Amino acid sequence: MLDYDDEARHYDATRGGEPRARAAADAVERLLPQGPCAVLDIACGTGIVTERLLRPERTVVGVDRSPGMLGLAARRLPGGVVRGDAAALPFASRTVDAVVIVWLLHLLPDPDPVLAEAARVLRPGGVLITTVDKNDAYFVEDSDIAQVTADLRRAYAPRVPDRSARVLDRAAELGLRMAARTVFPGTGQGRSPRGWREAIDAGHISWCTHAPQDRVADVRRRLAALPGQETARPDPQYPLIALKS
Ligand SMILES: C[S@@+](CC[C@H](N)C(=O)[O-])C[C@H]1O[C@@H](n2cnc3c(N)ncnc32)[C@H](O)[C@@H]1O
Repeated sequence: MLDYDDEARHYDATRGGEPRARAAADAVERLLPQGPCAVLDIACGTGIVTERLLRPERTVVGVDRSPGMLGLAARRLPGGVVRGDAAALPFASRTVDAVVIVWLLHLLPDPDPVLAEAARVLRPGGVLITTVDKNDAYFVEDSDIAQVTADLRRAYAPRVPDRSARVLDRAAELGLRMAARTVFPGTGQGRSPRGWREAIDAGHISWCTHAPQDRVADVRRRLAALPGQETARPDPQYPLIALKS
């Protein structure tokens, strides 16, 4: 995992900034209970999404283990952030109405302890809202890039920790099942064919780092042959699910 203390200064600017945060918060809002409630945003990061969940009738608290990220979140949510590990939350059982987890599960070697903690702090009837299948987000909408990369992705995508089937299985063991689902756009994050080749070369694409080099070279060639080398394809669409008892 990245060192988020180092990442903190650049995080907002490099992860879609305000448009991404607005889209994510709008999607979370669609899944949150209305009216007075207590919301816990696990792995709140810089608080760029969390602050948009504030409402007069709502208590919103963010938790994160990175002091660097949390320092920025504290400016957005004065008195509303706590340092802590998502796998050992510093909160009592059955005390929150909604747990929000945006872009954490895909980073973890094992998401099970975090899901168990989220379920523990939820009040009966509460909702756990989390992103899943983050790495598939670029391919939710069909595109020429989705087609050119499809075989390699199918063969070499590692078994990612935020795979929805896996999350749903674990949630079922915790007494939670899917109540709703939505997506939010990674506004401005769509990549051009050249952008994909650069991301592959930089080692940022996991299904390429796991594949034989001749197959990666073939995909690079096919990306280079696509029209509109500088034209970004559709923005990724990040899936978000709501789990309830
Ligand atoms: C990709 S950022 C997401 C931040 C925020 N949710 C957002 O969407 O902008 C991942 C965050 O998870 C935090 N994190 C990673 N592992 C964690 C853990 N075990 N407990 C708490 N926070 C963790 C990192 O410090 C970082 O702030």
